[in-house]
Amino acid sequence: MTNQNYLDLNSMEELPESHAWDHESPSYGPLGSDPVAVINLNDPNAMKLVGHACKTWGVFQVTNHGVPTNLLEEMEGAGRELFALPIQQKLQAARAPNGVSGYGVARISSFFPKLMWSEGFTILGSPYEHARKLWPNRHSKFCDVIEEYNKEMNKLAQRLMLLMLGSLGVTMDDVKWASLQGSSAALQLNSYPACPDPDRAMGLAAHTDSTLLTILHQNNTSGLQAHKEGTGWVTVPPIHHALVVNVGDLLHILSNGLYTSVLHRAMVNRTQHRFSVAFLYGPPSNIQISPLSKLTDKGHPPLYRPVTWSEYLGAKAKHFNKALSSVRLCAPINGFVDATDHNSVQVG
Ligand code: OGA
Ligand code: NI
Repeated sequence: MTNQNYLDLNSMEELPESHAWDHESPSYGPLGSDPVAVINLNDPNAMKLVGHACKTWGVFQVTNHGVPTNLLEEMEGAGRELFALPIQQKLQAARAPNGVSGYGVARISSFFPKLMWSEGFTILGSPYEHARKLWPNRHSKFCDVIEEYNKEMNKLAQRLMLLMLGSLGVTMDDVKWASLQGSSAALQLNSYPACPDPDRAMGLAAHTDSTLLTILHQNNTSGLQAHKEGTGWVTVPPIHHALVVNVGDLLHILSNGLYTSVLHRAMVNRTQHRFSVAFLYGPPSNIQISPLSKLTDKGHPPLYRPVTWSEYLGAKAKHFNKALSSVRLCAPINGFVDATDHNSVQVG
């Protein structure tokens, strides 16, 4: 990795060429107007609403999600403290060349000619080793917050899986692993410093997540956008104490294409520091994900072959934006192209 990948974005007064994206591209065009749903999880119709959102958008926001609001605030505070450290300190906890955990640029960066206006910190398993390097004498508070956050997110992810699958008529008996402990997950902390030339910059390029589902907490700064065919890009506005939930590639496979793995990206702005935490939720590592037999029949043959999460991450690292097609069994219907076929994906 070159030093340039580690420019201290917080101190830049001008956008360097290395970070200047093609702002003439149509993807910067006007935004669509088809808002993503906000669903109260205590609503008696929650299951139906969740199913509808997964089919039409692949993303929605949830309120009354049960995650304590003070924990959301503590997590945001912990992230802010981390990214506010001097760059040399953060580099002590840099991600290893082929590793996942640690500090660094967006992991999808290598697939793009330009760099993104963001920095990230990925936590897979225990945060201890990296946290110790960031704060040699006081890392335990950070580790405690991460542990508690993971615990609460796991609970919410299981509840969301019940709603998402339930709405397809699938029960936990059909997907025994879904209610078991031992699911895998990672946390991705993202920091998007205020940017001197936001119209030419990109916070996090368009991608789909390689998860079953992702739960995102964003601070009170706008920037997340989701894409829908026919509508274009739409902002998913921050709502105080709400969480954003999106369908990932593995749930798209499990639902035999009924649920949309939504393409999304993060934009930046001139004055505010944006911060987000993504909880990346996947199946236990030994489980093969394939279209649920309840959802397939003669008229609806399985569209994808079975894959484990790590096998799929390998496909993503190799085929990048063609990962879903690489595990596809049936030829796409005439004229139909996976949204991911011509876009980029986050190895999440
Ligand atoms: C991600 C992601 C969006 C955001 O980390 O996969 O899509 O708003 N983040 O930071
Ligand atoms: Ni994402």
